[in-house]
Amino acid sequence: MPDTVSLQEVVAEVYEKYRNVDEGEVATYIPELGKADPGHFGICLATVDGQVFCAGDWEQEFTIQSICKPFAFLLALEEWGRDLTLQRVGVEPSGDAFNSIELEPKTLRPYNPMVNAGAIAVASLIKQSSTESGVDAFVGKMQKAAGRPLRIDEQVYASESATGHRNRAIAYLMLNWGIIDGAVEHTLHQYFSQCSLRVHCRDLAMMAATLANMGTNPVTQERVFDFQYVKVMFTCGLYDHAGEWAFRVGLPAKSGVGGGIIAVVNRQLGIAVYSPKLDAKGNSVRGIMACKELASHLGLHAFEFTNVGSSFMQWLL
Ligand code: DON
Repeated sequence: MPDTVSLQEVVAEVYEKYRNVDEGEVATYIPELGKADPGHFGICLATVDGQVFCAGDWEQEFTIQSICKPFAFLLALEEWGRDLTLQRVGVEPSGDAFNSIELEPKTLRPYNPMVNAGAIAVASLIKQSSTESGVDAFVGKMQKAAGRPLRIDEQVYASESATGHRNRAIAYLMLNWGIIDGAVEHTLHQYFSQCSLRVHCRDLAMMAATLANMGTNPVTQERVFDFQYVKVMFTCGLYDHAGEWAFRVGLPAKSGVGGGIIAVVNRQLGIAVYSPKLDAKGNSVRGIMACKELASHLGLHAFEFTNVGSSFMQWLL
């Protein structure tokens, strides 16, 4: 690609390349998610120096779903510290589906904070004495990372709360093993609320760029996350696709069944894609394609020869 091509053109090209892909299925196990328009497709890329490049339906809002999980984990680490938090949740990839009903055999902890069991254990830690104050604390943090006001989608929340029997079963299993306390409905309220946060692609790209920028929002310059904990988002973000992702894309990432996906290029940029049709593992089909394309085009893989030097930096100049 010639030097004169800007990042905006790269984002627009990747959008055009995949806009007609029609594979996958919109999630329906949370009934309200089934109302998403399968045609929507947006891409956004935000750099640590505050530039933002978007294409397609980047302003279309959807619920963050599992992309809330790395951020909730950061909150738990900030509040409880590493040792106490890791007594309740591990950091090992499980190799299993996001909703797997499985705990580490020896410790009885969930494998990691990115699968539902781990995220529910984290929600139990970050809930506060009143049901709404814990949710407000989470939303407040996410607003700072996005740089604009955000709200919970009450329809999606109600839909998941009414049908989330599997998550309830996981929570009660963890209560039985002493991983979470007895306020199970309160914990599930925290978790379902976090998943129901409404965002668009630019919000997610800014959140990812805030992680890439060691916890400081690159546009507002507000400090959002504790620097020492930003490094925890590795190896588990795409569930049973995590190994393949690490090999091919090589970036910390997180997907959600709402159709969003984020990837973080440390000290460089955040990437977000929205496309609600999912593959069998619950990851956005076009989201994965677009991230792979951007990573290979711009040389973003953590162990790419061209990473920090020639390939990517030329697009910023
Ligand atoms: O708990 C659930 O099943 C959903 N609220 C979130 C799952 C999810 O996003 C998995 N990601 N790909």
